[in-house]
Amino acid sequence: NKEVVLLNEVKSFGTRSEEFFPLAWYKEMLDNQPVYYHEPTKTWNVFKYNDVKEVLSNYEYFSSEGAKTTIPVGASNKEGSIPDKVNVNFVDPPDHRKRRSLLSAAFTPRSLKNWEPQIQRIASELVDEIKEKDTVDIVQSFAAPLPSLVIAELFGVPIKDRDQFKHWVDIIFQPYTEENAKEVEEKKQIAAKEYYQYLYPIVAEKRINLTDDIISDLIRSEVDGEQFTDDEIVRVTMALLGAGVETTGHMLANTFYSLLYDDSSLYEELRNDLELVPQAVEEMLRYRFQISKRDRTVTQDNNLLGVNLKKGDLVIAWMSAANMDEAIFEDPFTLNIHRENNKRHMTFGKGPHFCLGAPLARLELKIALKTFLTQFSKIEPTESFQLEENLVESAAGQSLKQLPLKLHS
Ligand code: HEM
Repeated sequence: NKEVVLLNEVKSFGTRSEEFFPLAWYKEMLDNQPVYYHEPTKTWNVFKYNDVKEVLSNYEYFSSEGAKTTIPVGASNKEGSIPDKVNVNFVDPPDHRKRRSLLSAAFTPRSLKNWEPQIQRIASELVDEIKEKDTVDIVQSFAAPLPSLVIAELFGVPIKDRDQFKHWVDIIFQPYTEENAKEVEEKKQIAAKEYYQYLYPIVAEKRINLTDDIISDLIRSEVDGEQFTDDEIVRVTMALLGAGVETTGHMLANTFYSLLYDDSSLYEELRNDLELVPQAVEEMLRYRFQISKRDRTVTQDNNLLGVNLKKGDLVIAWMSAANMDEAIFEDPFTLNIHRENNKRHMTFGKGPHFCLGAPLARLELKIALKTFLTQFSKIEPTESFQLEENLVESAAGQSLKQLPLKLHS
C-alpha cells in the first residue's frame, strides 16, 4: 500500500463540479459495485449503509491505526504535530477510550449550553457586517470565518487577536496538491510555529487563572491520574481546529449553495417556521456534505463484507454514499427536510470514533442559519455565478471558495 491514497486516485472525476456533488457515481456504485476493489490503489471501497457502519464500528476487525486516506492538514514540524496522548484518530479501543475521555472534558453538554450565547453573538456580528449590502460572497463573509471565530472564542483567545488567529488557521489547514506541497508545507511550518508561540503563554496563564473556556477545561481534565501538559494543550487545540473548522465552514457554505440551487422555496419555508431549522441542518448534513469517507485496516482475515478480506487490506468507507442508500433513506437523491430519519446520516461517522464535535457543529450550523433567516427575507443567486470556477480542492474533496448571493432585508 502507498503512504497516502488520495480520493481522486480511486475515482477520477471529470470536473470539479462532479467531485463536489458525486451523486451519480454513488448511485452507480451502490447499484452495481457496492463492495469494489480498486486495483491501482489496492483498496476495498464500500458504499452501502450497513457495510459502512460495519467498517466504522467493528474496530476488532477494522482498525483505525495507520489510516491512510486522510489528506495531511497540520504541519509536519513539532509545533504542528498532534501529541500521542490525544491522537484519537489513529488508535483503537481500549487505548482510544482514555484519550477520548481526556478530550471530551471540553465537550460536555453543560459547556454546550454555555456556548450558545457566545456563538449567537458571533453569528449576529457577522450578519451585521453584511446587512446593508445587496450582494455578498457568503463564503468569505460568513461561512468560512464563523467556525474559526467561534472556536477562538471558545478557546478563550483575546478578541483583539482573532484576525491573526484566523489567519494562522487558514494557513495551517490549507490542503495542498502534489504540485504545491513543498511551498505550502513551508508556510504551514512557519504558521504552526507562530501559532504555538502565541498560544503557549495563554495556556500557561490560564493554568494559573482557570476560567470558563475549552483551554481551561482541558487543563482541568484528568483521567486515571493523567493530565495534559501546556505543550500538549497547545497541540490539542491545533487538532481541534483541524477537525472542526474547515468541516463546519464547508457544511455551512454548502447549505447556502443548496438553499440557492437545490430548492429555492426552502428558504421561505424555513423563514416562516424556524422550528424546521434543526431538521434542515440534518438533511443538509446527509445530502450536501460531500465527500465524507474514512479508511480502516483489516486486522484479521474475514468475510464480513461478503468478500474475502485479508489481514492488512485497506478498506475505505464512503459515508456520503451510505447517506444515499435506498435501503435506509426513501428517495435518497432528493433533498427533503421532512424525511423522518435524516438524522441517521453517517456524515459524523459511527461507532467509537463518532465525531466528538458533532454537538458543537450542529449548534453552530443551527444558530448560523437561524440568525441569517431572521435578518434577510430572501436570498437569490447571481446570474453570472459559475460553479466550476468557484471550487477549490479541500480535505472534503471540493469546496466553494466563493458563493455570491443577493440579499433582501
Ligand atoms: C471525528 C466529521 C466537526 C472534532 C470525526 C469523524 C467524522 C467527523 C466523520 C469520524 C472519524 C473516524 O471515524 O475516523 C465532522 C464533520 C463536521 C465535524 C462533518 C462538521 C460538519 C467537528 C468539530 C469538532 C470536531 C466542530 C471540534 C471542534 C472531532 C474529533 C474527532 C472527530 C476530536 C475524533 C474523534 C475520535 O476519533 O474519537 N468528525 N466533524 N469535529 N471530530 Fe468531527
